[in-house]
Amino acid sequence: MKLLVLNGPNLNLLGLREPEIYGRKTYPDLESYILEIAREENVEATIRQSNHEGCLVDLIQGAYGVYDGIVINPAAYTHTSVAILDALKAVALPAVEVHLSDPTKREPFRRLSYAGMACLTTFAGQGFEGYRQAILFLKSYLEGGRNP
Ligand code: DQA
Repeated sequence: MKLLVLNGPNLNLLGLREPEIYGRKTYPDLESYILEIAREENVEATIRQSNHEGCLVDLIQGAYGVYDGIVINPAAYTHTSVAILDALKAVALPAVEVHLSDPTKREPFRRLSYAGMACLTTFAGQGFEGYRQAILFLKSYLEGGRNP
């Protein structure tokens, strides 16, 4: 089972950016966490981060025929990008949205998620744990079992 884990803009600055919201752990810490979960769950995870909307669109398009599912934290593009929504719909791979914080409990402009409209579910406000939940959800979904 091959999963693509996509992270959007400014997530590369984890640890530095707004630690009161996102915590002190760094982006490499997040990558190690995801790879450890993937190893435990016997899933092949490829992790990519970009600050560029078009690059994220290219990565989603490139996932078609290569990956079985997508875990995506589109970061700020969550709330603005119809292009990312359209790319997810175009490839029609099972996708799960993740946010470290809970955008619905923050500024009103964060309440709308375009990407979420093409995702099976969302895990938000659980920090790194949300990525674990997303991987478990997709694994169960792809194995045809019931969702955890
Ligand atoms: C975020 C939430 C977004 O609103 C924000 O723009 C981010 C990170 C999160 O993981 O909590 O950059 O996606």
